[in-house]
Amino acid sequence: MAQGKDYVFHRDLTKTYPIITRAEGVYLYEESGKRYLDASSGAIAVNLGHGVDEIVYAMAKQAKDAAFVHTLRFETHVLHELSREIAELAPGSLNRVFYTTGGSEANESAMKLARQYHRDRGNAEKWIVIGRWQAYHGNTIGSLSAGGDIKRRKPFTPMLLPYEHVPSPHCSRCPYGKTLQQCQATSMACVDALERLILEIGPEFVSAFICEPIVGSQQGAVVPPEGYLRQVRELCNRYDIILIIDEVMCGFGRTGKHFAVEHFAIEPDILTFGKGVSSGYAPLGGMIVSDRIVQSLIENSGGKFTHGYTYSGHPVSVAAGLAAVRYYKEKDVLANCQQQSAYLFEQLELLRAKHRIVGEIRGKGLLIGFELVMDRERGTPFPPKAGIADRLNQIAMEQGAVFYPGSGGIDGEQGEHLLIGPPLTINQGEIKELVAILDHSLTLLETELFSVYPIN
Ligand SMILES: Cc1ncc(COP(=O)(O)O)c(C=O)c1O
Repeated sequence: MAQGKDYVFHRDLTKTYPIITRAEGVYLYEESGKRYLDASSGAIAVNLGHGVDEIVYAMAKQAKDAAFVHTLRFETHVLHELSREIAELAPGSLNRVFYTTGGSEANESAMKLARQYHRDRGNAEKWIVIGRWQAYHGNTIGSLSAGGDIKRRKPFTPMLLPYEHVPSPHCSRCPYGKTLQQCQATSMACVDALERLILEIGPEFVSAFICEPIVGSQQGAVVPPEGYLRQVRELCNRYDIILIIDEVMCGFGRTGKHFAVEHFAIEPDILTFGKGVSSGYAPLGGMIVSDRIVQSLIENSGGKFTHGYTYSGHPVSVAAGLAAVRYYKEKDVLANCQQQSAYLFEQLELLRAKHRIVGEIRGKGLLIGFELVMDRERGTPFPPKAGIADRLNQIAMEQGAVFYPGSGGIDGEQGEHLLIGPPLTINQGEIKELVAILDHSLTLLETELFSVYPIN
C-alpha cells in the first residue's frame, strides 16, 4: 500500500495491494515479514522460483556489456545462443525464433505472420483467424479478438476484429452435450464444428487457427481429449490454414514437457511463448516458426516480415532467457516438475475427498485446475456474482499462500476455479505447506458459504 498520495494506476483502482520487498524460492515477503507461498508463480511465469542468482547475474552482465541494440541493425551473442537453445527444445521443424516482450505481442506477431505468409503466396483473401471461446491469448486488440474470454472482450466489442470462434473441447462439460465415448464412436463434435465453420466462412478466407494446447487461465487447465489436436492439425493441412499453438502459459516445462504439444504428438506451424522462457525475470516472449514458413518468406517476401518492435530481442531480456533455459536443463527442472506434480495431484485429491465444494481437479505437470462447485454430483457451479474463486484466494492470501483464481470457464460467466501453478522447483515440504493452507482456507470458505448456499 502507498504512503500518502497514490500515483499508481492500479489494476483495480478500488483496491490496495501488499508491497513485496523480497522474493526467494517459492516465497514472497512483505516488508513486515509476512510471507506468501507463491502457488501461482506470479502469473504462472516464475517457473524457476524467485532469486535465482544465475539469471540475475546474467542480466546484470548483459546490461553492463550492451544493454540495448536495435535488431534492425545489430545483434548480440545471447540472441543467437538463446535461439539455438529454444530451437533445440522445440519440436521438429520449428527452428527460427522471433522475439517480443510478452505473450500478447507473440500472438499478435504470429497472426500477422500467418497473414503475410498467405498474402505473399498469392492468397490475399486469407486473413480471418479462428480462435476458441473461453480462451485467452492476450489483451492487445488482435490477440483479444482471437481470444474468447467474454468478460475481457465485452468493454471493447466495437473495436475487435471480426475473427471467428468455436467451442473448446471441455469434455466434462461438453458444449454439445456429448460424452467422450460418443465422440470416439463417431466423430469429435468440436472438430466437426471447426470444419463446419471453416466451410461456412470459406477456406479461402481463413488464415490461421489459434489455440492453447491446455487451456490455462480462462478454464483452469482443461486438457483436450486424445486425438483432438491431431485432428485439428489435419484440418489445418487440408484447408491451408496456419496452426498457431499458444504455449505462453504451457511452455518451458510447465506441463512436465518442454512444450505441451509433446503430450499430443503434433507440430504446429507457429508456436508462441512467453512467461517461463525468462522465468518472468524480464519481459520476454516470442514465436518459433517452422522451416516451411521461413522458406516461403525468403522466396515470396524478400526475406522480410513486415513487423517488429523496439524491444524485439532486447539483450537483457534475452540474457535472462538464456540463463533460464540453461538452468532448466542443468538442474533437470522437468524431472522435479513431474515428480512433484504426481505428489501434488495426490494431495489435492485428498482435499477433494474432504471438501464438498471441490469439483474436478485436472491439468498436467504443475498446471493444475482446481474447480469449485456448489453441487458436485450435478456439477452445479456457484452463481458468478458470488466470486467464489476470488474469495478463496483472498482467504488463502490472509493465510499465507497466493493462487491464480479464475471464473467463467464454463460459458464465459459461470465456472469458478483456482489455477495452481507453483514454481517447478518446489519441493515436497513446500507442497505440504501449500496444501495445508489450501485445506484451511477451504474450511474457512465453507463456513462462510454453508449459511448462504445449498451446498451438496
Ligand atoms: C495462453 C496465454 N496467451 C497469452 C497471454 C498473454 O501474455 P502477456 O500477458 O505476456 O501479454 C497469456 C497471459 O496470461 C496466456 O496465458
